[in-house]
Amino acid sequence: MYNLAIISGDGIGQEVMSACEYLLDKLDLEFSFEYGEAGFECFNNNGTTLPEETIRIANKSDAVLFGASTSTPGEPSPIINLRKALNVYANIRPIKSYKGVNCIHDDIDFVIVRENTEGLYSQNEYGDCDKMIAERVITRHASERISKAAFNLCIKRGQSKVTCVHKSNVLKKTDGVFTESFYKVAKDYPQIQTEDYYVDAMAMYLITQPQNFDVIVSTNLFGDILSDESAGLVGGLGLAPSGNIGDHNGLFEPVHGSAPDIAGKNIANPCSMILSAAMMLDYLGEWEISNNIRNSVEKVIADCKIRTPDLGGDASTMEVTKAIVKELI
Ligand code: NAI
Ligand code: MG
Repeated sequence: MYNLAIISGDGIGQEVMSACEYLLDKLDLEFSFEYGEAGFECFNNNGTTLPEETIRIANKSDAVLFGASTSTPGEPSPIINLRKALNVYANIRPIKSYKGVNCIHDDIDFVIVRENTEGLYSQNEYGDCDKMIAERVITRHASERISKAAFNLCIKRGQSKVTCVHKSNVLKKTDGVFTESFYKVAKDYPQIQTEDYYVDAMAMYLITQPQNFDVIVSTNLFGDILSDESAGLVGGLGLAPSGNIGDHNGLFEPVHGSAPDIAGKNIANPCSMILSAAMMLDYLGEWEISNNIRNSVEKVIADCKIRTPDLGGDASTMEVTKAIVKELI
């Protein structure tokens, strides 16, 4: 029996989470769900985007599933604060091409490992109306920790290279520390190839030669931007899952946000949420079931018949979910 914290959030976060719960109910596993609030609707109800109670529920769960939240003007981001509260420092974002999705490349299989606790996400901005300053914190501790996570993941995936992405030609001190830490950790993994690129060049290489990459490690904001770009390479945000992993907690969420433009229409692609749940099952050690889910998603996508509008179809969120469940063996 696994105790899951379920935090649906706002907009399509709620829709894809319902779909995900429907699928989890069909698995040969026992779950107990405990629900936590977060996001814009939560702020309107409770005066905070992330109540202490939600952090408590998340902290004592075996794993957390998070949908998406709409940002609340002037208020801190609940997902950023939840990641910090749970100390889930490694944001793992696999990027894989699926058969049946029309993309420029059909042989992509890499993963972005994004540092999750510092960088430009310190949420410390100050100044006056003429000059605003955003704090960008890079520590050796977090940089070495995320580099280790990237090398270990490279071994786990049976891949051969880790690429460090930074901008140390301009951000000499902060990204200097990030790059130094990466190469220091690399010494412990002599069997793995290393390389590093400036983030601007990397943005181009991801389009022109994405097959060259296995594991990409970067700071918080660069990792965020490159992972949305990469999602665009393989069929969009509807197919991009993620896991936030620390030493004691795991939080799994689609890469996308609450998508107000399509919310309430029951047309959100549930695959990113469902694939995030599969990552959660990997984390819980249920590899057979997680592989089964991934294979079912692949089959439904490859079949091209039942798909949501973002992939060119006209099926609803639940129609796609039921098609995936039907493929489960
Ligand atoms: P978004 O990811 O919500 O949407 C970007 C585009 O992708 C939209 O056109 C949307 O319709 C489409 N899209 C996203 N997920 C989809 C899915 N599952 N199926 C089909 N189409 C999908 O990003 P946007 O519009 O920049 O932000 C909307 C809100 O979400 C904002 O308030 C933002 O702050 C918040 N946000 C929250 C995140 C989180 O909770 N982790 C992450 C990113 C944004
Ligand atoms: Mg993002």
